[in-house]
Amino acid sequence: MRLLVTGGAGFIGSNFIRYFLRRYPETELINVDLLTYAGNVANMKGFSVYPGYRFVHADINDRRKLEPFFASGLEAVVNFAAESHVDRSIDAPVIFARTNIDGTVNLLSLAQRYGVKRFIQISTDEVYGTLGAEGVFTETTPLAPNNPYAASKAGADLMGLAFYTTYGLPVIITRCSNNYGPYQFPEKLIPLVIINALREEPIPVYGDGQQVRDWIHVEDHCRALERVLLDGRPGQVYNIGARTERTNLEVVRRILQLVGKPERLIRFVGDRPGHDRRYAMAVDKIRGELGWEAQIDFRQGLAQTVAWYLEHRNWWRTILSGEYQDYYQRNYGYRLEGQ
Ligand code: NAD
Ligand code: TYD
Repeated sequence: MRLLVTGGAGFIGSNFIRYFLRRYPETELINVDLLTYAGNVANMKGFSVYPGYRFVHADINDRRKLEPFFASGLEAVVNFAAESHVDRSIDAPVIFARTNIDGTVNLLSLAQRYGVKRFIQISTDEVYGTLGAEGVFTETTPLAPNNPYAASKAGADLMGLAFYTTYGLPVIITRCSNNYGPYQFPEKLIPLVIINALREEPIPVYGDGQQVRDWIHVEDHCRALERVLLDGRPGQVYNIGARTERTNLEVVRRILQLVGKPERLIRFVGDRPGHDRRYAMAVDKIRGELGWEAQIDFRQGLAQTVAWYLEHRNWWRTILSGEYQDYYQRNYGYRLEGQ
């Protein structure tokens, strides 16, 4: 298979490439990534031993740079590349529209022009907006995004589906719930809490901490994407989730237990504007059609993730010494390293 993956230096993209190349070492895989603050060369360690792997440093908006790869024939595109953090989208929404919408449309139009056989658009449950205390999102739940990140992902989903309907491009949309696991950038809740706890730094909990997320281990997500890539139906949307609903406060407390640190590190801070209260995914469609189900239990997965961050201190120390510090300082008024 000749595959073009975007965003493969980020959290989920790098996990997917590692998973996929282990399973299919003969794959010809082109990884396109701009190496933004979230893209990390260290996440791609070991990929170059695979003879069919190639890294291309490029923006998904850069039509001229990407065109030769499409022109030489691709079976599939898997588009992970995105601005992915809600808080950043509230601070600076323009780049979210540019990467998540314009970049996706650029890839879709190249895929259409050169007859790509499958286009997997990696999306999120956040496009559905928020749930109350009851209910779950299904693939037919109306889109109702509440923040610029979610709105930009919804825009990309709709463009993907329009390319399917208008031009017959075989686009498939996957919408996954909150991922956790190795190589997640420490702006997201779980790695941020692990690292702050290890350093005995304050742990910011937004609002009352009773917001609910449906956590899935990144490896379960990768396994689902493998199923969709091989056997998913064009023009369809597939929800992916693990039916593991937890409040943020439960997650924070569990991590503190795992690393043996006190709850007094928790700081309740101002709420995120437009904060979605609860996400939960129905996964009957992917289970029924593709036989996929999450396998990794949250307690075990979380313990393994904590162990990974303990064993890979240099990975996150390098990140924390850079630009992210300034972002944190601006938003929370202190630096993670206490500088
Ligand atoms: P991430 O921020 O860790 O990685 C994003 C990657 O995209 C980085 O390597 C970055 O360098 C690259 N990138 C950004 N802009 C680019 C551009 N213009 N051109 C090329 N590359 C660019 O994100 P992630 O958490 O791995 O998320 C990957 C995808 O999965 C995103 O599309 C996101 O919306 C989606 N998703 C994430 C989650 C989650 O819990 N993290 C859940 C569901 C869906
Ligand atoms: P996050 O990891 O940013 O994912 P998303 O916003 O895409 O769901 O946040 C997960 C939840 O944790 C969300 O409800 C916001 C909350 N949160 C905090 O309470 N404190 C934090 O420092 C962060 C980053 C998130």
